[in-house]
Amino acid sequence: MRWLIAVALFALVGCKQQPSEKQQQAAEGAGSAAPAAKKLVIGFSQVGAESAWRTAETKSIRGEAEKRGVELKFADAQGKQANQINALTSFIAQKVDAIVLAPVVETGWESVLMQAKEANIPVILVDRGIKVSDESLYTTLIASDFVEEGRMAAEWLAKKTNGKANIFELQGTTGAAPAIDRKKGFEEALKKYPEMVILKSQSADFTRAKGKEVMEAFIKSDREKIQAVYAHNDDMALGAIQALEEAGMNPGKDVTLISIDGVKGAFEAMVAGKLNATVECNPLMGPIVFDTITKVKAGEKVPKFIQSKDQLFEQSTAAQVISTREY
Ligand code: AHR
Repeated sequence: MRWLIAVALFALVGCKQQPSEKQQQAAEGAGSAAPAAKKLVIGFSQVGAESAWRTAETKSIRGEAEKRGVELKFADAQGKQANQINALTSFIAQKVDAIVLAPVVETGWESVLMQAKEANIPVILVDRGIKVSDESLYTTLIASDFVEEGRMAAEWLAKKTNGKANIFELQGTTGAAPAIDRKKGFEEALKKYPEMVILKSQSADFTRAKGKEVMEAFIKSDREKIQAVYAHNDDMALGAIQALEEAGMNPGKDVTLISIDGVKGAFEAMVAGKLNATVECNPLMGPIVFDTITKVKAGEKVPKFIQSKDQLFEQSTAAQVISTREY
């Protein structure tokens, strides 16, 4: 009897120890499941919120991060390089997977970028370039060709004014790549037109309020001479339009205005006949920024400069295309 019980017990234990094929497959499957992919953590140091263009860029990058389940640490520098350096230092300390930097100005980045390099954190520059002695301090620059934008604006203005105009220039933030390059490209192209002369040129910091303020000063000193305005961004042109109207002048008619960015407000001003043209500079960078980070993290080589395509829009077609504008 004892012997029978022992055999039955042994059979029972034996059965338990032999899982069915299904159980075995399930167990194997559970054991070999790939570990959940680690969430990417990206630090993004943004210039600020000085223009509609900048706000559109922030929205695009934030939106894309959310869509892809990326944790984005966002820092608004409020136009100050010192704030950007602090943000980068903190991102490095937090060991983020990559840093996205839209630099306020071109110079002064060596030391903090060296720290990022030593920590093995790739730095992706967006929309503005920098000047560094060692280009390996950043991985890539995703931006427009600002020099070309300046050239496009000058060629269009020369055509519109038959190569003869007194130009008043509203520059972007002093030391910022778009201000330097848009001026450079514009002046280069103007060399072919000796009667196109920049009579006054001043920074208005890429903002509508300063654009208005500087234009008011131009009107005060040179009202009769103002024939054309070249603004390094749409917001400054919109401020200038306000100043011209308040002074009883006719922007878009007595004064020809061209600016850069292609924001909705510029299209509205063109439809209203107050702005003559805008050169688009695409701020919708989210998708390309995260595609690039994914490649870099996978060890793929990416080009040093990834150029966004720009095109010029005139008043004559503004009404047709305004509904298609995304920003
Ligand atoms: O760097 C891009 C420029 O910066 C945009 O043209 C301007 O609107 C912005 O502030």
